[in-house]
Amino acid sequence: MTDLLIKNATLINEGQRQQADLRVADGRIDQIARQISARDNDTVIEADGCWLMPGMIDDQVHFREPGLTDKADMASESRAAVAGGITSFMDMPNVKPPTIDHEALVAKLDMARGRCAANYGFHLGATNDNIEAIKRVDGTQAAGVKIFMGASTGKMLVDDDSALEAIFEHSPLPILTHCEDTPMIEANAARARETYGDDVPMRQHPVIRSREACIASSKKAMDLATRHAARLHILHITTAEELALFAAGPMADKKITAEACIHHLFYSEDDYDRLGALIKCNPAIKTEADRRAILQAVADDVIDVLATDHAPHARADKDNSYFSAPAGLPLVQHAVPSLVDQVIAGHFSAEQLVTKMAHNVADRFDIIDRGYLREGYWADLVLVAPAGQTVVDDEPVLAKCGWTPFAGHTFAARVKATVVSGQLAYHDGKLSQGCIGQALAYDR
Ligand code: DOR
Repeated sequence: MTDLLIKNATLINEGQRQQADLRVADGRIDQIARQISARDNDTVIEADGCWLMPGMIDDQVHFREPGLTDKADMASESRAAVAGGITSFMDMPNVKPPTIDHEALVAKLDMARGRCAANYGFHLGATNDNIEAIKRVDGTQAAGVKIFMGASTGKMLVDDDSALEAIFEHSPLPILTHCEDTPMIEANAARARETYGDDVPMRQHPVIRSREACIASSKKAMDLATRHAARLHILHITTAEELALFAAGPMADKKITAEACIHHLFYSEDDYDRLGALIKCNPAIKTEADRRAILQAVADDVIDVLATDHAPHARADKDNSYFSAPAGLPLVQHAVPSLVDQVIAGHFSAEQLVTKMAHNVADRFDIIDRGYLREGYWADLVLVAPAGQTVVDDEPVLAKCGWTPFAGHTFAARVKATVVSGQLAYHDGKLSQGCIGQALAYDR
């Protein structure tokens, strides 16, 4: 591994900005100082004042392995991720077979070893009857326990109240929930079928996957967590009403935290007519007022974590009618540019971005030595030119599905370089061939 020196960067870290150089040696941040001289064999990157931040730790991706590798795999999607400034990812359990026991978790860790361009971690999935696996989960091997409290891609709905009580009472790890009330959604879907037959307009998605379904389910998860004093992280919040349920303030003071995803910050229901099933996802993209409320909640420290929920599906499958088109979008390749654009638009600060895409994620999941620019920590870095422009159509789409909802769009910002565990993974538009991420380690 060659050592790396990044010169004249604007470091954004732990609520502060400083002009500095940063040196990487043996995979770790060796030195941060105003001026560092290059040594022989250092690869030197001139940052020209660009923003140097800890790389994004994405706590919610669907890389589809094992079993769904016609859609995506860990190798393909992790390469797309590093191009988007993501240095670590945590993958969801709705694969085939689902990651619902120790054996499936270890199999995924084995599968990832040596094949991912980013660092990797995995969540254990909950079911109506795997409480024993959850109780025994090894916290050095799993990031968290994921509960689909609403049905989505895969058959992982947990709808047995006694199972939910037991999971919230006994989970030794943070619980992550997908909150949508499935019976309410099914009733809405039946009504839509009566009105439209099979030809339901895509604009009906947030009517069927309704705000009431999200609110009811998020309230239920919060009630469970409060009664059992559990650590709860509610994923992909989409409505203003749900935001009002969370406390504002630093994450360290919270047992219940909230995540928002880049597509819910970027799109509103006004985009269904243009993009149709390409932006069909669960929970649904809702109103412009909701989008604005989520952006404000990031600024107000109500939202603690920013993620992608990268969920690729074949383009041809998306060309189906409402009920047949799968839900989910490929997003990792444009993660950091889209978030920096929200900063440039004035919705929240760059310091808050760093807190929510890196520091808080590392803290929430007890990740060892990552998520901060600190001497001695692993060198997981993203260097961003805030006015460098990413013309989406000029770049190859790296996700295996071969499409992006952002086609035709230009982001103001550009990822200049991504460093994963000290290796230059992506630089000036080129992926490096030999970058190998590591398994995340958890302090538990
Ligand atoms: O839109 C979604 N797609 N939401 C989910 O919860 C799952 C995901 C997928 O796996 O396709």
